[in-house]
Parts: sequence; structure tokens; C-alpha cells
Amino acid sequence: MRSIFLIASILATLSSTSAANCTRDGLLSTASQFVTAVIAGQVNNLPTTSNFTNQENNKALALSKGVFASPLQIDTNRSTADTVACASYTMLISTSGPKPYVLATQIRHDGNDTGKISTIDTIAATTGSLFFTASLTLSYIKAEDWSALPAASQPGRDLLKKVGDGYLDMWTDAKAADTIPWGTNCERVEGSRLTKPCGASLPPGGSAKQNDDRRYVVDEVMGSVDVLCAFNSLGNMPDSHEIRVVDGKVKYVHTITVIG
Ligand SMILES: *[C@@H]1O[C@H](CO)[C@@H](O)[C@H](O)[C@H]1NC(C)=O
Ligand SMILES: *[C@@H]1O[C@H](CO)[C@@H](O)[C@H](O)[C@H]1NC(C)=O
Ligand SMILES: *[C@@H]1O[C@H](CO)[C@@H](O)[C@H](O)[C@H]1NC(C)=O
Ligand SMILES: *[C@@H]1O[C@H](CO)[C@@H](O)[C@H](O)[C@H]1NC(C)=O
Repeated sequence: MRSIFLIASILATLSSTSAANCTRDGLLSTASQFVTAVIAGQVNNLPTTSNFTNQENNKALALSKGVFASPLQIDTNRSTADTVACASYTMLISTSGPKPYVLATQIRHDGNDTGKISTIDTIAATTGSLFFTASLTLSYIKAEDWSALPAASQPGRDLLKKVGDGYLDMWTDAKAADTIPWGTNCERVEGSRLTKPCGASLPPGGSAKQNDDRRYVVDEVMGSVDVLCAFNSLGNMPDSHEIRVVDGKVKYVHTITVIG
């Protein structure tokens, strides 16, 4: 009897610790499988939960109907990991297919199980999207330094969330820009439009409609926050804003915005 109790309690302990584990390696490994699947046009074969949902440009959509339905040639990819939300963010640029794409995808996992995907959530920009020229975006993105930050340079989770929110609030709140720690040599890539320093010519507030439906991936090691949202302040536009903070200051801003 006693040994059965002991085994039962050991098993309970094992399953509770594994459930509470969402590791960076697990997240990045699934993100990398996702990239491989995108290239092969086999995203629908990835392991998913029973209630898996795919969303594209803020609308539920079958994988077979969306941007991942056929193989994509990928010029560059970069992923970040949020071990608290158990989610990852992947940016993909494809310049050479029949249709060029710049894609922002957040992948989420329920119950901290990085082996199964519960949500794929993508902002898919193509010709006609805001300031869209994929090859120009690619050239700016490739020139950036996204190496992992040493511990002393990493921003905290709260700062990253605050910077992401402050940025998206600038269209509705004239004071939001002043809450953001702009770096002096930072750059902003909006579609393919480059602005340096990134704190120049900012929106002055004035819109009555919040940018909402915000979904976050926060990565302290990369110093980044990605927020997918409904960019309602200027019309209902599916949007991704990714911001990198190094040594407490904004270093890069990337926006991917779909019109209509
Ligand atoms: C939890 O994660 C830690 C750190 O990655 C690892 O050492 C440990 O084996 C994991 N535990 C389980 C039960 O998966
Ligand atoms: C899927 O089901 C799990 C377990 O019932 C639940 O925790 C989770 O919120 C659901 N996820 C979605 C995307 O609906
Ligand atoms: C995706 O990114 C990883 C990590 O930087 C890199 O090793 C890999 O070659 C990239 N794949 C493609 C198709 O660009
Ligand atoms: C997932 O991991 C986080 C952080 O370790 C923990 O706070 C949370 O309770 C875990 N969730 C589940 C469903 O295990």
C-alpha cells in the first residue's frame, strides 16, 4: 500500500513540474519547426491541440485558405520567446515567390506544453500593405544586430510591456510619446519606410479610437516586445509592432500593417 502511495505521489510531482515548464528552448524549437513547415507548405502537419485556431489578419481562417497553404521561399526569419505567456514570435520575409510577404506570427501553447500549438496568429503583409516593398524591408532588417543581450543590458518584462503599450497609445494619447525611452541612434522600419532616429516625427494623439485587441510576446533576453493588434486609431488595420530595447533605450521599431 505504502509503495503505491509513494509512486502515485512521485508521478503527481513529475506531472505538475513538467506542466509548469515552458522553456525558451522548447518555444524556439517549435518556432523553428514552424519555419521549416512554412517553407515546405506543411504548416497543417504541425502538432496542435484539439481546439487549435489559426488567425490571419485578425480573422479566423483555415490554414488551407491562408498564406501558409502553399510553400514559401524564406529570405530571413527571426524568432523570440516568452516563457511566461508560453508563446513565441516569428518574423518571416519572402521576396521571391509569386507574391512577396512580410509576416509576423505569434504561436501560443496551452498548459505550457510547447510540443503542441494552440494558436497560430499572423499578420500577413503583401503588395498593397502599408509602405510595402519586401526587398527593401529585408535589406534594413538584415543590417540589424539581434544578438542575445547580456544580462546587464536586458530590460525587464514590465518595461517592455510599457514600451509596447506606450507606442500603440501615441495615436490616442498626446503624452504617450514622452513615456518611451527613445534611444539616440535607434531606427524605425515601418513596412519599408526607414526613420532615424526612431523618436522623430511621432503621432501627436488625437484619435478617439484605441489600438486594441493587443496580443503580446515579451522576450527579456532579446530585449523585445511584439504586439499584434487591431490598429483602430487610423482605421481597422491588422498590425504588428515589434520594439527592441537595449540598455533601457529603444533601439529598433518594426511595424507590419495591412490596409483593409
Ligand atoms: C524544467 O525546465 C528546466 C530548465 O530548462 C529543466 O532543467 C527541467 O528538467 C525541466 N523539468 C521538467 C519536468 O521538464
Ligand atoms: C483550448 O482548451 C484548453 C483546455 O480546455 C483551454 O485552456 C484553452 O484556453 C483553449 N484554447 C483556445 C485557443 O481556445
Ligand atoms: C532561420 O533562422 C535561423 C536562425 O537565425 C537560421 O539558422 C536559418 O537558416 C533561417 N532559415 C531561413 C530559411 O532563412
Ligand atoms: C505556466 O508557466 C508559468 C510560468 O512558469 C506558470 O506561472 C503557470 O502557472 C504555468 N501554467 C500552467 C497551466 O501550467
